Amino acid sequence: MQRFETARDVALSTRPDHPVYCFRPQVLVEDARRFMAMFPGETAYAVKTNGEPMVLETLAANGIDLFDVASPAEFAAVRQAAPDARMLYMHPVKAQSDIRLALETYGLRVLAIDHEDEITKVTRIVRALDIDPGSVTIYVRIQTKGHAAYELSKKFGAPPAHAVELLQRLHRTGYKVGICFHVGSQIEEPDVYERALRSADWVRNRAGVPLAGLDVGGGFPAEYGHDPRRKHVEMPSLGQLMSRLRGDIVEWDFGDLPLVAEPGRVIVARAFSLIVRVLLRKGRRLYINDGIWASLSDSWTGKITLPARFIPDPAIKSRNGNSKSIVPFRVCGATCDSVDILSRPFWLPETVDTGDWIEIGHIGAYSMALRTRFNGFYPDTFVEVETPFDEGEKPDSFASLETMAG
Ligand SMILES: Cc1ncc(COP(=O)(O)O)c(C=O)c1O
Repeated sequence: MQRFETARDVALSTRPDHPVYCFRPQVLVEDARRFMAMFPGETAYAVKTNGEPMVLETLAANGIDLFDVASPAEFAAVRQAAPDARMLYMHPVKAQSDIRLALETYGLRVLAIDHEDEITKVTRIVRALDIDPGSVTIYVRIQTKGHAAYELSKKFGAPPAHAVELLQRLHRTGYKVGICFHVGSQIEEPDVYERALRSADWVRNRAGVPLAGLDVGGGFPAEYGHDPRRKHVEMPSLGQLMSRLRGDIVEWDFGDLPLVAEPGRVIVARAFSLIVRVLLRKGRRLYINDGIWASLSDSWTGKITLPARFIPDPAIKSRNGNSKSIVPFRVCGATCDSVDILSRPFWLPETVDTGDWIEIGHIGAYSMALRTRFNGFYPDTFVEVETPFDEGEKPDSFASLETMAG
C-alpha cells in the first residue's frame, strides 16, 4: 500500500478521480488498546463494522484475539487474517447451514440466541455432530431500552420473562449459558448500560441457573464532528463512560463473571478517512464521486456528523466567493439513483468548485462495510496515511445535522 504523510499529500500528488480510503493503522492500534485497557473483560472486535483484511490483521497483531462474527464470510475473513483467534457467533438469527459450518468447520463454541426455535436449530446440529453441549456456551440476548443513533432492540432480544425461560431451557439441555445485550450503536444516553445491567440482573435472579458470562455488546460511541451552529449534546468521554460501566458492573454484582464487550465503531471509526472529489458544482449542489450506496450510507441517515476538510485543487486559479465563508452545500452521490442525495448538507468554504477534494474524517465504521456495486461504482482504493486526521489542520467543514431546505 502506498504511504503518505497526510491526506492532502494523497490528493495533491495523485489527483484521484475516484474515492480513496486513507488508513491510519497507528490510530486503529491506539483506539483498540485504549478500549482494552479500560474494559474489565475480553474485547471481541465486531467484524461487521469494518472487516477489511488490513483492519483484522492490524488488530490481531496488536492484541485482539477475539472477534464477534455474524456470517460465513466473517468466519473466513477472521480465520484468514488471524488463524489463532477465537470467534463469538453473536448473531441471534442464523441459517441452519451457517450454524453447522461454524460448529463443524470453524470450531466455534460460543453463540447467541433470542428464541427457542434458534435453540432447536443449534441443538439439532450439536447432536448431529456429537458435540458435548457442556462445551458450548449460549448467550441469551435480552432486550434493552434507551437512545442510540441506531436502535437494535426493536429487531433482536428477548423480553426479560422470555429470556428467563430460554436460559432455563438451555441449562436443562446441558449448555453453559450467559446473558448478552446490545444497547444500540452509537449510544446517546450514558444510562443505557446501567439499565441493561439491571435487566440482566432481574433475568439472572429469576432464571436461577449458573451463568458462564455476561456480554455487554457494543454501542460505545465513536468521536464524530458536530455542527457548531447547533446545540451540542455533550456525551461523557469513553473514559468516563467506562468508569461508570465498571462501577455499575460491580454494583449489579456481575464483577465476578467473565465479561465480554463487542465494540465496533469506537475502535475503527477514527482509523480511516475518505477523500472524495467534487465531480461537478451546480450552484449550491455538489456532485461527488461517493454517496449513500458507497461509503456514506451511515451519514445519509443524518444521525452521524462527520468532520471534513476541504482540499482545494491548486490548478484552479480563479474562484468565486469568500474562502472564509462556510456555507451549506447539498451533496449528490455518484450513482444515477435519485435517492442518492445526502439528507444533510456538507458545510464547506463558499469557494469549493468542480475538481476540488474533500477529506471526510472518522469514516472507518459502517462505511466500506456497507458499500455496494450499484451502477458499477465500488470505491476500493486504499492508501496508508501517517498523520491522524485530528492532528492535521483543523477541519474547516463538516457534514452537518441541519436539514437543507430546497
Ligand atoms: C451483535 C453486535 N455486536 C456488536 C456490534 C457493534 O456495535 P458498535 O459498532 O456500536 O460498537 C453490533 C452492531 O450493530 C452488533 O449488532
